[in-house]
Amino acid sequence: MKKFIITIDGPAASGKEKIAKYISRRWKLSHLDSGILYRRLAQIFLINKIDTKDINQIKKNLVKINKISFRNSKKIRKQNISKLASKIAIHNCVRNFVNKLQYNFVKNNNKKQGFVIDGRDIGSVVFKKANLKLYIEVNPEIRAKRRYKQLIDSGEKSIYRKILKDIKLRDKQDKLRKHSPLVIPKGAHLINNNGTFENTTKQITKLLEKI
Ligand code: C5P
Repeated sequence: MKKFIITIDGPAASGKEKIAKYISRRWKLSHLDSGILYRRLAQIFLINKIDTKDINQIKKNLVKINKISFRNSKKIRKQNISKLASKIAIHNCVRNFVNKLQYNFVKNNNKKQGFVIDGRDIGSVVFKKANLKLYIEVNPEIRAKRRYKQLIDSGEKSIYRKILKDIKLRDKQDKLRKHSPLVIPKGAHLINNNGTFENTTKQITKLLEKI
């Protein structure tokens, strides 16, 4: 049976997670945040002191992993993991590993009536035939301001200028990489998330009511 899928792509800190959670709750869809999987891999490589500049080391260690957590955590949201996740995500072997996890998640999960999946390449590469594709747009300055507030609120020390710099660097890495770069997927609807969340959800509701 073909499964109902909504994809959400967009740059770092564009609000994909919040939007995906909203859609998941309101339309009773299962949510998969693919960024968590890249972050979990980065965490594993960091703990095991893997030299991530060496592609052979990455390949050798990928085959050793037999289980990976899909759970979010405060630890994997830290800046060092964000940066490393973006760095390892340029490799095809890493992307194939994560894509397989996503395909299995959809294949083996029969309880929910569908899925909302967010990331950078979900509508363009991983689930090209999705029922609805969204691409989230937000200015880098607004993204940095929101991320700064999030970190401060959660008790982390943070410097706005550093966050903006990191966001711009991750954008560059995500957009310019050879494999599965961040692009607006063919057929995607652009969602402007510069304003209030209410404004964003209105745009989404309008689209979902048409399906
Ligand atoms: O979305 P999030 O910021 O949690 O993702 C962490 C990193 O993983 C991103 O900066 C990006 O480089 C990478 N990623 C990716 N493709 C995805 C999801 C995340 O390349 N589908």
